[in-house]
Amino acid sequence: MEIVHVSAECYPVAKAGGLGDVVGALPKYLNKLGHNAKVVMPMYRTRFLYQNEWEVDFKGRGQMGSYWFDYTIIKEKHNKLGFSLYLVDINGLLDREKIYGYGDDTERFTAFQIAVVDWINHWQHKPDVLHCHDHHTALIPFIVKHSYQYNRLADVPTVLTIHNAQYQGWMGWDKAALLPVFDTWKAGQLEWNKTINPLASGIKCAWKVTTVSWSYLEELRTYANGLEKLLEYEKGKCVGILNGIDTDVWNPATDPFVNHHYNYSTVDAGKAANKLELCKEFELEQTNPLVVFIGRLVGEKAADVLPDAVLSALYGLQGKVNFLILGNGEPHVEWQLNQLKGNFPGNYNVFIGYDEALSHRIYAGADFLLMPSRVEPCGLNQMYAMKYGTVPMVRSTGGLKDTVVDMGDWQGWGIRFNHASVGDIAYSVTRAVDVYADKKQMTAMRSHMMQIDHSWEHSVQQYVDIYQSLKY
Ligand code: ADP
Ligand code: GLC
Repeated sequence: MEIVHVSAECYPVAKAGGLGDVVGALPKYLNKLGHNAKVVMPMYRTRFLYQNEWEVDFKGRGQMGSYWFDYTIIKEKHNKLGFSLYLVDINGLLDREKIYGYGDDTERFTAFQIAVVDWINHWQHKPDVLHCHDHHTALIPFIVKHSYQYNRLADVPTVLTIHNAQYQGWMGWDKAALLPVFDTWKAGQLEWNKTINPLASGIKCAWKVTTVSWSYLEELRTYANGLEKLLEYEKGKCVGILNGIDTDVWNPATDPFVNHHYNYSTVDAGKAANKLELCKEFELEQTNPLVVFIGRLVGEKAADVLPDAVLSALYGLQGKVNFLILGNGEPHVEWQLNQLKGNFPGNYNVFIGYDEALSHRIYAGADFLLMPSRVEPCGLNQMYAMKYGTVPMVRSTGGLKDTVVDMGDWQGWGIRFNHASVGDIAYSVTRAVDVYADKKQMTAMRSHMMQIDHSWEHSVQQYVDIYQSLKY
């Protein structure tokens, strides 16, 4: 089958979080099964763009209200990523350094979606499925269904994957004029709570909707940033499919970012060597258990609780534990985490910023990975941690609930807690310190979780089943 993934992110081209990882891996694993999956995304000014070779695939013209724009579709020449990769170049709109965060993001992603549909409309044939990811691409199911200009594509099945329902791409009704002219009787298919809501529109118009874990799908019916009733109403076409991890990229036995490679039978020695380097680099004492956090410093990840939780744990345990944090996000959280630095020399450090290579070294060198997320649709960090023999400490929510079993339960290997609170985190850290002292149990847990199969091979067939169910 020919499946076109439309996304704002795709690793290693451009990534802000897990969406990039998923879109960089799922098509590759679909192709390994013999399908023809491709990715189309905006052409940002990223390093990948300049370091690879491209050919022009198509040049076209799109209309966004009264604004006409030229667009060019370029294709990566050598199929390096295991799938055909197409970038949409729209001069002045998409060719910027960052993925998101501009005042005209609405126009940028609307133009992107129009260009993608216009391009596919020029193909001689039609693809089997258009697979859209998150709100930046969620207007496509509406556009192909209800706009006059692209009506030829109305019978192309569409799938929308919700990676994160917190962000919905809301825009005022004045922006309706930006969309290709559509049947105004269908305007309700764009709306939720009196505004244009792209994510809601995608949920209404896509043939199938998937979420990235089973528990998140359940949770969305009661907690979906305003979309609860819609998701309840549309539950018949919604399916939860747990993300996988790309074991070509995330494997401690081969990871090029990691200096000391190891597998489940050499995990203790391998982690010790990586930890030693990490501790030297961040001036941390080497014999303590090392608890780390990697992620966006935002409310969803409960990053605001981290400064107090770290303080409480460090005072409570009197220097018997170390923390290392890698992240960026809300400025006041960055500031607070930086402030803590001088207070606990040898026990605490933080790197504010985004650093892919460092993240791999931290997964490899850490003992425990903390994820107190308030919302976690799937979460990839905990799965990377497990693959690297790092014990996950997670709040029981969304995909974290579906992938981590508490060490107090039968054959469990992780630490789970219920609240994104200082008390729950500090208590979990004491549990971590206790189990760390039991070398035998640590080794058993590490080696057990490293052998759990979270690879895409496991999940990809479920997407294929969905695509096939849409064939007519
Ligand atoms: P989300 O997509 O909500 O941010 P996920 O757990 O799905 O959460 O994925 C986060 C991804 O982003 C992981 O690959 C993680 O390693 C990476 N990541 C997050 N913050 C950073 C950072 N500051 N530096 C490097 N990698 C990061
Ligand atoms: C989102 C979610 C995260 C998920 C990722 C990939 O960013 O916040 O939980 O793992 O998408 O699906």
